[in-house]
Amino acid sequence: MTEKIIILDAGSQVTQLIGRRLRELNVFCEIYPYNKMPAPDPAVKGVIISGSPCSVRDENAPQIDLEGVKGKLPLLGICYGAQYLAAKFGGKVEGSLAREYGRAMLNVVNADSPLLQGVSAHSQVWMSHGDTISAIPRDAEVIASTDDVVNAAFHFKNEPTYAVQFHPEVFHSTEGSKILANFAFGICGCKGDWTPASFIETTVAELRAQVGDDRVILGLSGGVDSTVAAVLLNKAIGHNLTCIFVNNGLLRKNEFEDVMDSYKDMGLNVIGADASKEFISRLAGVTEPEAKRKIIGRLFVETFDKYARTIENAKWLAQGTIYPDVIESAGIPGIASKIKSHHNVGGLPEKMNLKVVEPLKMLFKDEVRRVGRSLGIKEELVGRHPFPGPSLAIRIIGDVTEEKLRVLREADDIYIKGLRNYDCTGMGFPSASDPRIMAENLYDAIWQAGVILLPVKSVGVMGDERTYENPVALRAVVSTDAMTADWFHFPYDFLAKVSDEIINKVRGVNRVVYDISSKPPATIEWE
Ligand code: XMP
Repeated sequence: MTEKIIILDAGSQVTQLIGRRLRELNVFCEIYPYNKMPAPDPAVKGVIISGSPCSVRDENAPQIDLEGVKGKLPLLGICYGAQYLAAKFGGKVEGSLAREYGRAMLNVVNADSPLLQGVSAHSQVWMSHGDTISAIPRDAEVIASTDDVVNAAFHFKNEPTYAVQFHPEVFHSTEGSKILANFAFGICGCKGDWTPASFIETTVAELRAQVGDDRVILGLSGGVDSTVAAVLLNKAIGHNLTCIFVNNGLLRKNEFEDVMDSYKDMGLNVIGADASKEFISRLAGVTEPEAKRKIIGRLFVETFDKYARTIENAKWLAQGTIYPDVIESAGIPGIASKIKSHHNVGGLPEKMNLKVVEPLKMLFKDEVRRVGRSLGIKEELVGRHPFPGPSLAIRIIGDVTEEKLRVLREADDIYIKGLRNYDCTGMGFPSASDPRIMAENLYDAIWQAGVILLPVKSVGVMGDERTYENPVALRAVVSTDAMTADWFHFPYDFLAKVSDEIINKVRGVNRVVYDISSKPPATIEWE
């Protein structure tokens, strides 16, 4: 039984961060919409109520059923969660004249409080709320205050219910992780034994129980998620797993061959489905980005289906879906209720009458990588940047031709090798694949990088000759989930070197530019 903490999401932008912080402490947790508290389960050691864009004073503020929770299980209210507990149980929440945003200094009032064990007497916290708790419930005591907020943290006496008006989950709350650790270990009694190794052990056992002796098909993409899913399944069911890796002819230089070799070295049973000619010919003359995507998506499904049908008696389709793809955002007024569907092989399970198995659906991206490392998958695959399904087709602006693919592949190869070979030890770049450590090379410091071939021509001069060729744009971003991203601040010497090398070596390119746009308002890809 994996012990866990339940996070009830009242709609805050940073709810996922609460989950991430707990997982960093090796404590398993699950996020549910505020109104969908799961049925009683002995594995649940505590409950956290998140923040919210709503005010508890709103007519349709999220109402949380705490009947089976408060006084029965450890409970922590954060921001809206704290105000909800105050308002619901006899305290008072009012609109604050001074809206409380940003950094504040937290002063510990009761250093004996289990929530504040080991927390400095004064530490920085992050506040973000328009309302304030003007009176706490009668059976509660204040355990910490800031200069402006007396009731910054409080505790219901005689029960393990706590509330903090600040956000311990955000980076700016310098001792926030300590507070969450106190809740998880000291108050909920969690053991913190949820590690990659324990995840692998339980998942392999669960997969065996789930699929038994059935045959399973999995679409490999060369990416981290599908690779880790494949290795887990391979460990669980061995040769009953057949993987299909489609070559769409739009991959990076040598990628299909290199990745196929790695997969074979790992003992995976992989069919290489080469449909490259077909993809390129169907894309001929197509310029509109969404039209390109549709053609590629459709042909991918056709190709996958064709090869999958050669596998007799397959009952399951395995997918590398990860947690951010499945977290259901709460149906709060003003916040769209949606379940993201980001299946790599959309429509296939229904079409082929297969059941779906998703061994990574409870993991965040960096956890998938940690599991991959623990499974012994080599760094080149585990630390790989995300790569879009439509591949280089959406990095060639306009129509796709073999010649444009050649130019883009050459430039991209120089850029990616340059990133891998640039030693940035000591330069202060955190690793994008494991935020707990620092990056040793630029590739690992970056979430995602690629080259874009632009459909304009400009004049240049090479030797005695004038050139009239295309520019390429370099893109490199840091991000945690691709929803927002910031452009990467390269050392100038890297940009200088890579620009020289591309212009000197790639026939057809006479200019290199660097894209310094963040998302939003730009996107990571150009199409
Ligand atoms: P954008 O460009 O929207 O990209 O900022 C966010 C992330 O999604 C990837 N991306 C795609 N992935 N099919 C995919 O499988 C697509 O059509 C697609 N478009 C963008 C992009 O590379 C980035 O990681």
